[in-house]
Amino acid sequence: MSTTLITNIGELTTNVLSAAGDRLGTQHDAAVLIDGATIAWVGSTADAPPADAVVDADGRAVLPGFVDSHSHLVFAGDRAAEFEARMAGQRYAAGGIRSTVAATRAATDADVRARLRRFVEEMRAQGTTTVEIKSGYGLSVVDEERLVRLAAEVTPEVTFLGAHVVPAEFSDRADDYVDLVVGPMLDACAPHARWIDVFCETGAFSAAQSRRVLEAGIARGLGARVHASQLGPGDGVRLAVELGAASVDHGTFLTDDDVVALAASDTVLTLLPGVEFSTRQPYPDARRLIDAGVTVAIACDTNPGSSFTSSMPFCIALAVRDMGMTPAEAVWAATAGGARALRRDDVGVIAAGARADLILLSAPSRTHLAYRPGVPLVERVWKDGATTATTPGTAPGEGPAR
Ligand code: NIG
Ligand code: FE
Repeated sequence: MSTTLITNIGELTTNVLSAAGDRLGTQHDAAVLIDGATIAWVGSTADAPPADAVVDADGRAVLPGFVDSHSHLVFAGDRAAEFEARMAGQRYAAGGIRSTVAATRAATDADVRARLRRFVEEMRAQGTTTVEIKSGYGLSVVDEERLVRLAAEVTPEVTFLGAHVVPAEFSDRADDYVDLVVGPMLDACAPHARWIDVFCETGAFSAAQSRRVLEAGIARGLGARVHASQLGPGDGVRLAVELGAASVDHGTFLTDDDVVALAASDTVLTLLPGVEFSTRQPYPDARRLIDAGVTVAIACDTNPGSSFTSSMPFCIALAVRDMGMTPAEAVWAATAGGARALRRDDVGVIAAGARADLILLSAPSRTHLAYRPGVPLVERVWKDGATTATTPGTAPGEGPAR
């Protein structure tokens, strides 16, 4: 097994709580030894062991690769016109999902797979080393099975989201559609998935329907995640907490009771600032959540409707600027927070034994991620110990995969 030493790190974010109480476990003049796919040693440059290869960070910052715990990358089609209409004053509505469903059902496996792989590459180039991917643009047994199967080719963090919206052919028969989701669709999808999710919202699924979906998934051994309180306050957050969901996502319209319930639970609240950005909704107040003791993650929610960014650095910048987080809190939420939202302890952290998933910035500190918004600062990425190029490829939708 070959070893690589990253040395002369000006600021190393480990996310290992320090004796002084720093949750980000910041070290200066640090070094990290990678052995194969894992981190073998972390310490000061002066004490660094020899290695087969050496990367001199020359005072720049190193941190864990981003853990993007919420995305919808398996789809076809384009909804730029919907975005344009929104920017001209129209409101975002859950129904737009159906147009992506039609395009996705019509696309070949090869098309969907090619786009999916390019999104994952696009994310990797921006520092994301772990990504959760949901189905939800198939909404039939055959189409949902196809989407979770394709997602499983690129990540172990696959989520079955058959209950994304009620498809057109079931309109006025939502409960019949839920029967399908918790029956044959779950049977077909569970073998490819680790998680089950539901969009608990007016216009999607009621609290009672969401409970059926989540309980069926949990009974099949899947972990629960919930889309809730994106378009208005509702019961989804408390349902997620009650059922022990790993994460409840969006939380744009939280009640005081939601915040109290989250703070007393193990459920992470995953904020999706790209959604507020691209729907012109108000940003949730992360300051209020963190001060109340809620564990907060940040994710991109990459999807063609409500948030078509794949950039964790951009989402960090938004969370700092518009949600009241400090740069350190936002970086923690985008790394360790995402790992908590996926119940993983081998990513989002730089410590001996963890996966060698880390990024080198062309900047002296992690603060630059928010201080220099829109600037491609991720210079080098290691995923399972292998370095990948950070030059962004052709954006999906612009190249031949379209
Ligand atoms: O997370 N909220 C539901 N699902 C996606 C949006 C999907 C779409 O508009 O296509 C979300 O925002
Ligand atoms: Fe989503």
